[in-house]
Amino acid sequence: MDKFVVKGGVPLHGEIATGGAKNSALPALAATLLTDEPVLLQRIPRVRDVRTMQRLLVDIGASADVDGESVRIQVREVRSPEAPYELVKTMRASSLVLGPLVARAGRARVSLPGGCAIGARPINLHLVGLEQLGAQIQQAHGYVEAVAPQGLRGTTIRFERITVTGTEDLMMAAVLARGTTILENAAREPEVTDLTALLVKMGAKIEGAGTSTVRIEGVARLHGAEHAIIPDRIEAGTFLVAGAITGGDLTVTGCLPEHNAALITKLQAAGAEITEVDGSTLRVRAARGLRSADVTTAEYPGFPTDLQAQYIALMTQAEGIAIITETIFENRFMHAQELARMGANIRLEGNQAIVAGRKELTGAGVIASDLRASASLVLAALVARGETVIDRVYHIDRGYEKIEGKLAAVGAQIRRI
Ligand code: EPZ
Repeated sequence: MDKFVVKGGVPLHGEIATGGAKNSALPALAATLLTDEPVLLQRIPRVRDVRTMQRLLVDIGASADVDGESVRIQVREVRSPEAPYELVKTMRASSLVLGPLVARAGRARVSLPGGCAIGARPINLHLVGLEQLGAQIQQAHGYVEAVAPQGLRGTTIRFERITVTGTEDLMMAAVLARGTTILENAAREPEVTDLTALLVKMGAKIEGAGTSTVRIEGVARLHGAEHAIIPDRIEAGTFLVAGAITGGDLTVTGCLPEHNAALITKLQAAGAEITEVDGSTLRVRAARGLRSADVTTAEYPGFPTDLQAQYIALMTQAEGIAIITETIFENRFMHAQELARMGANIRLEGNQAIVAGRKELTGAGVIASDLRASASLVLAALVARGETVIDRVYHIDRGYEKIEGKLAAVGAQIRRI
């Protein structure tokens, strides 16, 4: 099992490139199920979750040609509309094939995802929506079976709470339904908007992407398309925090600054200098000390829950008390106790973490528990005095491509063993 060894105390300087968004690549790959023609996707990050999704599509019946960051997928026919437990248990986003399979093949058998470190992660809202579109749903032996022998029928679906992959799953089910579907209280994340851009290129009729109300007019079939997915705002955000926490001067390239507006506002409130160099480049400098600034996570365009752990690491180095409130997931402070082992002063109270800075961190042996928690441990290690060994870094490989190489190139003393 790979580990990272990090020697802290080096301010990061230089340029660091942002890759394609994992959470855009996953629904985009699932969308290839909706046509029998080839779909060419560009800027696909070479991360573990993407490889898992590609393997799942091939098991279903796709041919996949990978050339660097370009992936060409063609699902001439659906051989097996299934997502087996052994794959789904490693990546719950496999539930994204549910909607497209029912839309394309009239049936799907997908393993229930099971929980993960950050919470129960149910998919009940996906299933309720599919039923409203006319699918019959059964759950048995840990699997969901959905059938729609007469195809799906458009309707109005109101999400009782905002769900990113729920919105994406049902959008993909609705594009081939008979009639019009309205999604109300839909997710507004940039990755939802990016999926819509791909679906429209494939011939779908969708309005309102990026707003809470999305209108989808079903069509008979979709055709192939070519699409470059958006940059990864969470990877870019993680790098901005890396520049701030090490007191360096880091230029993050290949990103979309407007997708990080909430984080940028908070980093500036904490005393970091963030400048937009151009439409795809951000520069972060934090020469002097940082001060605490409270954060409450929220659905886009609010502060992303996927940057909460990274921000907590930063607040251990800020003067004052920062209150971080997590409103999306019920158990997303696993990183707190690991950071405490490095000397951080963090008190957990329900869905709040109270971080008292500024506390010098010292290197220690720590264990990653989930994707973004492991990023938080890397950030803390970059500023800790001495050496930190981070175990179970396979978590970080799920969503960050070669993070140790990218950080080492801007001065970090980090290596994989
Ligand atoms: C997506 O997960 C992302 N994953 C997550 O990123 C991200 O943290 C999350 O959205 C929130 O922004 C992908 O896009 C692949 P939700 P998703 O459905 O869609 C509850 C990462 O680090 N809920 O928006 O699974 C759910 O339990 C990952 O890259 C239901 O109750 O999240 C949660 O509390 C981690 N029933 C809340 O809604 C449902 O049917 C938001 O979940 C669905 C969700």
